[in-house]
Amino acid sequence: MTPADPTAVDIRAAGSFGLGRWQVNRVGYGAMQLAGDNVFGPPRDRDEALRVLREALDSGINHIDTAQYYGPSVVNELIREALHPYPSDLAIVSKVAARRDTVGAVLPYDEPDQLRAGIEDNLMTLGVDRLAAVNLRLMDGSSPGERFDVQLAALVSARDEGLIDGIGLSNVSRAHLLRAVAQTEIVCVQNLFNLVEQRSLDVLEECRLRAIAFVPFCPLGLPSRQRSELLASPVLAGIGARLGATPAQIALAWLLDLAPNILLIPGTRTRQHLAENIQAAAVDFDDTARAELSERFPTVSGVPRFLR
Ligand SMILES: NC(=O)c1ccc[n+]([C@@H]2O[C@H](COP(=O)([O-])OP(=O)(O)OC[C@H]3O[C@@H](n4cnc5c(N)ncnc54)[C@H](OP(=O)(O)O)[C@@H]3O)[C@@H](O)[C@H]2O)c1
Repeated sequence: MTPADPTAVDIRAAGSFGLGRWQVNRVGYGAMQLAGDNVFGPPRDRDEALRVLREALDSGINHIDTAQYYGPSVVNELIREALHPYPSDLAIVSKVAARRDTVGAVLPYDEPDQLRAGIEDNLMTLGVDRLAAVNLRLMDGSSPGERFDVQLAALVSARDEGLIDGIGLSNVSRAHLLRAVAQTEIVCVQNLFNLVEQRSLDVLEECRLRAIAFVPFCPLGLPSRQRSELLASPVLAGIGARLGATPAQIALAWLLDLAPNILLIPGTRTRQHLAENIQAAAVDFDDTARAELSERFPTVSGVPRFLR
């Protein structure tokens, strides 16, 4: 298997999972990095950004993650330029509750009227009447309570009015999830989760029990040091050498293997990494790989050993 050949693998090898009424392949694409550096301004290579998006769909991806505040507007406009009119099976999922200022700072935009405006901005820049799902991306780290209920109600109204098919949550605890599902249907949860950062394991498990899609962001580790260390891990390299895969593919295949409700959205601005990430769908994970990875990256008292 060569990392640069996107046709070498049938993406359906990893199966599919329900995202509300949408059934999507488990390997999707996160579009965040298509904006300029720090997810702000125009892309470094606009033509390549458009090619990445088109190749994602040509390779069988039917789940794209985005946000109005990526750029801002930049990523949604690239998606529209590359892919509109969209195929009927393409689930575009966005998130609301943040905005950017003129120098790129990320600011909360999470009052109920702002959440509504955020959804409408997404619809406009993507050129659609309705989105497959929108995540309420919590920005303030607050515990679930009345403010959370009011925010959730804003998304319920948008769904009732047909602007979105499903409601997702992002950056939430299990307590948020339980409070939300007591009020309405939740179709996905998007939290930080990867080999070295497994603190959302309880949220993943709760989602699995409820057949809610769990969408880990930063599946290759947090930017810079953590990601570099993960991708340079001799354990991943060793497993990869044995299974004919790269360390990134092993990190992604571990997630696919971990639970059937995990949907991947690894991001990249290059077609080479896109193809490499898609090929994680075909890695033949085995018990030896599982044992080696759980030995090297265990979850102990909620804090992975790697981070201590
Ligand atoms: N809900 C949230 O709060 C939240 C937060 C962060 C992200 N997200 C979403 O989650 C998606 C995924 O997050 P992410 O952190 O994985 O993606 P990302 O932030 O889009 O970037 C992934 C990074 O890994 C690199 N990379 C990708 N494939 C690689 C490979 N095979 N080998 C080596 N490096 C590789 C990319 O560099 P190259 O461009 O050079 O390939 C990029 O710098 C984002 O695109 C976004 O849609 C959501």
